[in-house]
Amino acid sequence: MADGTDTKSSNQMWGGRFASGPAAIMEEINASIGFDKKLFAQDIRGSIAHATMLAHQGIISTEDKDKIVHGLNTILSEIEAGNFEFSRSLEDIHMNVESRLAALIGPAAGRLHTARSRNDQVALDFRLWVKEELQKCEQALTGLIAAFLDRAEEHADTVMPGFTHLQTAQPVTFGHHCMAYVEMFGRDRSRVRHAIEHMDESPIGAAALAGTGFPIDRHMTAKALGFREPTRNSIDTVSDRDFAIEFLSIAAIAGMHLSRLAEEIVIWSTPQFGFVRLSDAFSTGSSIMPQKKNPDAAELVRAKTGRINGSLVALLTIMKGLPLAYSKDMQEDKEQVFDAAESLELAIAAMTGMVRDMTINAARMKAAAGSGYSTATDLADWLVREAGLPFRDAHHVTGRAVALAESKSCDLAELSLEDLQAIHPAITDKIFDVLTVEASVASRKSFGGTAPSEVRKQIAFWRARN
Ligand code: ARG
Repeated sequence: MADGTDTKSSNQMWGGRFASGPAAIMEEINASIGFDKKLFAQDIRGSIAHATMLAHQGIISTEDKDKIVHGLNTILSEIEAGNFEFSRSLEDIHMNVESRLAALIGPAAGRLHTARSRNDQVALDFRLWVKEELQKCEQALTGLIAAFLDRAEEHADTVMPGFTHLQTAQPVTFGHHCMAYVEMFGRDRSRVRHAIEHMDESPIGAAALAGTGFPIDRHMTAKALGFREPTRNSIDTVSDRDFAIEFLSIAAIAGMHLSRLAEEIVIWSTPQFGFVRLSDAFSTGSSIMPQKKNPDAAELVRAKTGRINGSLVALLTIMKGLPLAYSKDMQEDKEQVFDAAESLELAIAAMTGMVRDMTINAARMKAAAGSGYSTATDLADWLVREAGLPFRDAHHVTGRAVALAESKSCDLAELSLEDLQAIHPAITDKIFDVLTVEASVASRKSFGGTAPSEVRKQIAFWRARN
């Protein structure tokens, strides 16, 4: 009953000093089993490592350890097979597993929690989960990078307009544009790798917050669980969720990159742009307008970024101002991370599919690249290089050429030599070599520039880097 008069028996795990059970509303606000059951495999792995260490150190008997390990493996199979009954009155995954262990093996189960607390247990389970998630992200980002490298290779020579302010700026290649995303997702992947390094410490053995008087071996459990070493401060260990916040920060930055790409795909696939056509597999139709093909997957990727940012801000806010060490507030960490992880995984997978599947309309890209006087800078550079003009003067002369072309409604390359010479006598017919978009991109051979030769070098760099 919500008024606290519930006479249900007290919790079998910690109810020693409690005369009655919790109010229904208390159980509802307190229980985390609804979401932390996701941690079952990590919880069982952690308990097996802990029990094995306890027996190795002579803290529990080998017989009890064998019973515990056998029981835990049985529980693992039960949960995997969907034959496990999770109970809300047992609060969380840790106590659900331990209670079932007691039912399966009897009193030996009570020895598992020696030299351990749920505080270090949950820190361990969650860290293991986040570490595995980071490893999945590393793989997924590698897949996305590979998709971009393939498209970049295929389109190293495909000319498209490069934009600033979303106004046509200078011609670039689609390969070069793809490689910009390789750089972004490459940075995301190194952040993921760094975070794995950073969090690679085992919390188990910190106990409630102060460590334990039992002669445990934290290096042994750390090694068994695949961590580099144990954490060094038991207070910090049970109060730290930096690893989860780092994951969310990385997810938020990657999400921001994904949303920029999503936005470009939305723009490029409009009939007005027509640069790309999404495959049927990654678009939807309209129930009323038969002509439509909507980039829903790209739009949803753009939106998922909002959820991920929300999770980051939520967890930062949950942790803000918490006194050391553990507080129950920290139980609210998991749903944020689970939701962000699901969103990020989906977004990367959908993007990888879209990038691989979309059809590039090279003719549309090239036509757009040539419009908007995109080779004006090439004309100015030519005047500097070939006619020795200071760049500012060349800029002015070019401005006049653009104005003339505009008044004649033609491109720069369509102006006659006489027209151009009337603007500046040093101009010769060689100027026409740089006014095409192909000549423009081929000339930009500076390191990291858009010339196809340069883009191919960057592709080779990233292929070797994987
Ligand atoms: N379900 C809890 C959590 O997620 C486990 C730790 C509980 N510890 C405690 N002292 N009540 O944080």
